[in-house]
Amino acid sequence: MKILVTGGAGFIGSNFIRYLLNHHPAHTIINIDKLTYAGNLDNLKDVEGNHRYFFVRGDIADSECVTKIIDDGVDAIVNFAAESHVDRSIEDAGIFLKTNVLGTQVLLEAGRRKGIKRFIQVSTDEVYGSLGPEGSFTEDSPLKPNSPYAASKTAADLLVRAYYKTFGFPGIITRCSNNYGPYQFPEKLIPLFITNALAQEPLPLYGDGLNIRDWIQVEDHCRAIDLILHQGAIGEIYNIGGGAEKTNLELTRIILKKLNRPETLIRYVKDRPGHDRRYAIDPGKLKRELGWKPLYTFERGIEETIRWYGENRWWWEKIKSGEYREYYQRMYGKR
Ligand code: NAD
Ligand code: DAU
Repeated sequence: MKILVTGGAGFIGSNFIRYLLNHHPAHTIINIDKLTYAGNLDNLKDVEGNHRYFFVRGDIADSECVTKIIDDGVDAIVNFAAESHVDRSIEDAGIFLKTNVLGTQVLLEAGRRKGIKRFIQVSTDEVYGSLGPEGSFTEDSPLKPNSPYAASKTAADLLVRAYYKTFGFPGIITRCSNNYGPYQFPEKLIPLFITNALAQEPLPLYGDGLNIRDWIQVEDHCRAIDLILHQGAIGEIYNIGGGAEKTNLELTRIILKKLNRPETLIRYVKDRPGHDRRYAIDPGKLKRELGWKPLYTFERGIEETIRWYGENRWWWEKIKSGEYREYYQRMYGKR
């Protein structure tokens, strides 16, 4: 099987490519990535020389580039490429619409014309909006995105649905909760707080710190996508979640404790506008229909993740000393 992975130089995409190469010796993978600030070929250093792996620097919104790759022969597309950070979408939504919406439409159209067999849209639980203290999102929950990022992902999901309904296009949508693990860009909560704590720098906690996220180790997410790619039903939506709900404050305390750092490093800062209070995913359909379950407990996942950032300073120190400094100042200087 020849699989086009988009955004494979990012956090989840790179973990997914490594997973596919390790678990499917007959698959060939083409990775198309624009290498934005979040794309990093260091994430794939260990697979660079693999004869079943090919990298193309390109934009999924560039129809000519995408069509050329797909016309060369691709069986399936797994679409990770996206602008993925909520705070950046609040600063400037334009690029989110271009990549997340138009980029997805370019992939759908090129895939439809060539008659590809499967298209996996890697979406997010943020399309469902925010929950109160009870209950969890099912695949039938209403779509109520609250940030420009979430709205752009929702629009892309609706395009995948429309292509399925109108053209019988073989699209499948996955909606996962918050991921953590190795190679996550240190603008996201867990890698930001681990690396700041390692460097004895303050941890900027938004609002009252009591917003809740439902965490999943990235390899459990990759295993679910792999299962859905090979056995999922066309036209369906599958929720994916790790079942590990934590308030941001609880999580911050866990990180500080495991790194033996004082709680005085916590800084309460101005809240994110439109900040979703709680996410919780019901992954029952995926469990029942495809037999998936997460293999990581949160305890094991977070411990291994903290160890990974501690042992791989070369990876994040390089990022944090580059243009990231300007971003950090802009984002947190005014809070
Ligand atoms: P990321 O920001 O780490 O990586 C995104 C990758 O996409 C980068 O390599 C970037 O260079 C690439 N990219 C961006 N624009 C592109 C374009 N126009 N053309 C080609 N490549 C482009 O993101 P991530 O956290 O790995 O998320 C991957 C996908 O999973 C996203 O679609 C996101 O919405 C979804 N998702 C993420 C999470 C999470 O917790 N991180 C949870 C659920 C779903
Ligand atoms: O739920 C899936 C989504 O999870 C994905 O679709 C997104 O791509 C991914 O970025 C993530 O979105 P969140 O906004 O939930 O993740 P983030 O790591 O930005 O924030 C997690 C929580 O931590 C959120 O409640 C905001 C809070 N936070 C975040 C940062 C960066 C802080 O308190 N301080 C911070 O500095």
